[in-house]
Amino acid sequence: MSFKEEKTVTARAAKPVMLTEVLGGEAGHLSSLCQADLLTGSQAEARQRRLEVSFADWRLDLSRQRLQPETLEHLAEWAEACGLAEQRQALFAAGIVNPSEGRPALHTALRWPQETPPVAGSEAEVTFAAEQRWRMAVLVERLRAGQWRGVTGQPIRHVIHIGVGGSDLGPRLVAEALEETHPTRGPSVHYVSTMDASQLVVLLERLDPAATLLVMASKSFTTADTRYNLETALTWLSSALGASREAICRQQLIGVSARPEKMAALGIPEAHRLTFAEGVGGRFSLWSTIGISLAVQIGMPAFDELLAGAHTMDRHFLEAPTVRNLPVLMAVVGAWNSQFLGIPSHAVLPYDGRLASLPGYLQQLEMESNGKSVGRDGQSVEHTTCPILWGDVGPNGQHAFYQLLHQGSHTVSADFIAVARRHAQAPEALQKTLNAQQRLTLANCLAQAQLMALGDDAIPAALQAHMARGYRGNQPCSVLVMDELTPWNLGALLAMYEHKVFVQSLLWGLNPFDQPGVELGKRLAQGLEQSLAAGDAAGDWVDDAATRAMVEHLLKHS
Ligand code: F6P
Repeated sequence: MSFKEEKTVTARAAKPVMLTEVLGGEAGHLSSLCQADLLTGSQAEARQRRLEVSFADWRLDLSRQRLQPETLEHLAEWAEACGLAEQRQALFAAGIVNPSEGRPALHTALRWPQETPPVAGSEAEVTFAAEQRWRMAVLVERLRAGQWRGVTGQPIRHVIHIGVGGSDLGPRLVAEALEETHPTRGPSVHYVSTMDASQLVVLLERLDPAATLLVMASKSFTTADTRYNLETALTWLSSALGASREAICRQQLIGVSARPEKMAALGIPEAHRLTFAEGVGGRFSLWSTIGISLAVQIGMPAFDELLAGAHTMDRHFLEAPTVRNLPVLMAVVGAWNSQFLGIPSHAVLPYDGRLASLPGYLQQLEMESNGKSVGRDGQSVEHTTCPILWGDVGPNGQHAFYQLLHQGSHTVSADFIAVARRHAQAPEALQKTLNAQQRLTLANCLAQAQLMALGDDAIPAALQAHMARGYRGNQPCSVLVMDELTPWNLGALLAMYEHKVFVQSLLWGLNPFDQPGVELGKRLAQGLEQSLAAGDAAGDWVDDAATRAMVEHLLKHS
């Protein structure tokens, strides 16, 4: 048997077991559980303690979920019955867990520490990732030390990171989250993703072209959004500096891709080409050299700390018992809510403005991975899969969509995420008022979780006579609190969600590592772009009345 065949066999998925098979006769009783009873009845405190899990300095409280501790045990057994142990081993051993593309999923290899022996089967992938990280560190240090010079000889002071989807969301999220505690000591870093150049145009007006370096971050190196932004940025540099495009590509461009030959074809010198394995999925690529611009901002030690946090979560996922395993618990609770309680949408509500981009990041991670209704076996699945995921910074959402959470006609589940300590580095004069703001934020997080769970039952006795009623309550939510927002904690948080997605894919019988549903739209857009460029409202791609009418309109008006 060849190496590849052996891996394929290791990674063969178990047939998913249906949730109702696991719950048996308990199902009817469980569906009528009411949170007000669960959280205030005589067993409430003992139940709460059993539904709380710790990891490092985190506390995850699942007691506002509509389930009993025993339910959680059944759900954990469900995950085991779906082949969790075998599939998880295959994931870490670089087995073929992405069958439609015949690939492993190598994100855990990207953060495996060099001093720790890798899981058998992943040795080559871990070594390759470490080599690329080392090459990235050399470029990062040159940039942070002001030793990188552009075509005119000026040192680089700005970096524009051009990417989209997984080549943008992860680095951007972490950059924003750590800006307060890790202010940049090197070049300023800017992220550009929008296809229409809206983010790029404003940068081109204010950055000095002689001191600006571009990072083209694209796993495929073919994504149109990124290529067109790069084209505009290269044209700007070459016309503003009076330099050839070749010279710009040699001195003011770094490429990051899984396709080195495409970077070479663009004229990027070998030393400025960073790569990563094809087996690293775009939405799992933050940990790879895709993170170079982030590392320029926060420095390699902090980037390594991010990886260390993610790796510790990997080990927890591999080794912790199922009923205390955070990713497994998050996964089964999520599946319980969508599949059994029929809750169609899930809100991510960080009570920390530094995590403003977390909902967007998780939208790609969860919905691009498990937003599918065709199983690994190619057959349509008969159960609900990934819910619609959305959210915003909690306190801002309170002034926008929380009305719907509390009194709307939809059931919604939620993750509340809060950070206990903050502002240790703030100037002394501001400590008091910033601490008050932090206290207020935490109090709001607790109040909203309480209200989502209890509804009208949360109205204190003293206010009973004065408050209007109609708070629906019984909306299940998890509350996760960590002591501080460090690179380590952030790495662990994102890795926890990655593994949650993986476990859910097993529960639902899906391949979480491909995204066939995004391809056709790209092809249609290519054809329509040709029609618009040719002024042709009757082209091959314009074959329905609605599209034809709008193409005609745009040809007149754009
Ligand atoms: O269109 C979806 C997608 O392929 C994502 O999976 C990916 O993260 C994004 O596009 C960007 O792809 P690339 O890194 O190849 O430019």
